[in-house]
Amino acid sequence: MKNLIAANWKMNPNSQKEAKEIFFAIVGPASGWDGVEVVICPPNIYLPVLKNIAMSDVALKLGAQNIYFEDKGAFTGEISVAMLTDLGVEYVIIGHSERRKYFGETDETVNKKIKMALASGLKIIFCVGETAGERDAGKKNEVLERQLKIGLLDIENLKLKIENLAIAYEPVWAIGTGNNCSVEETSASIKIIKEKLALSEVEGQVRVLYGGSVKSENSGAYIKEAGVNGLLVGGASLNAEEFVKIVKSAE
Ligand code: PGA
Repeated sequence: MKNLIAANWKMNPNSQKEAKEIFFAIVGPASGWDGVEVVICPPNIYLPVLKNIAMSDVALKLGAQNIYFEDKGAFTGEISVAMLTDLGVEYVIIGHSERRKYFGETDETVNKKIKMALASGLKIIFCVGETAGERDAGKKNEVLERQLKIGLLDIENLKLKIENLAIAYEPVWAIGTGNNCSVEETSASIKIIKEKLALSEVEGQVRVLYGGSVKSENSGAYIKEAGVNGLLVGGASLNAEEFVKIVKSAE
């Protein structure tokens, strides 16, 4: 399976013009990318316009940063999986630590969203990771186990296509801080995650990504030395030139 490099633009940039500029600067080089799968996750409002551009280039895929766990109805401000699949969006990030921290997401709501997304054929990037406090208290393994166990509860009933599930290990203390997790520590966490997955129903080719202050200077080492199958890139993905370098390091 190809390495997966996903760009999480978060709540950026501020205009459609800038979104198109960044995207166009990635579309050019993307035509030569064979060995890697690349997904751009912009704010939802930019998905339709970027989709029109992406249509002409199969190497780039689009993803959302969140969904709601109900299929439709009176849920003001929310986005459903049907709206995304109707648009041809293939991926969604679920359980990002910023959603857990600022928007009250719990392991249980994350599980509902994962089930909703997988049941409708969306591919997911499921984020897990410990906070600085949990790491300092020696609770990293426990936290990862809990997030994986509850997050993936009952997914075996969904006739899951294993390639539709990717896990992103994102230590919260490494996100947006410039303090990326060392290759050694990442490698140990990836091992824990893979072991945990092997015990559950989703054994097999689940891609495990790393995210947290990824830059072109450190990206290659994660792919080559930490045993990851891809990267989830935040801040650095808004700089097209930098993002293209990161993708190249994973090819
Ligand atoms: P960062 O964000 O690369 O800016 O640390 C990663 C993420 O939040 O997915």
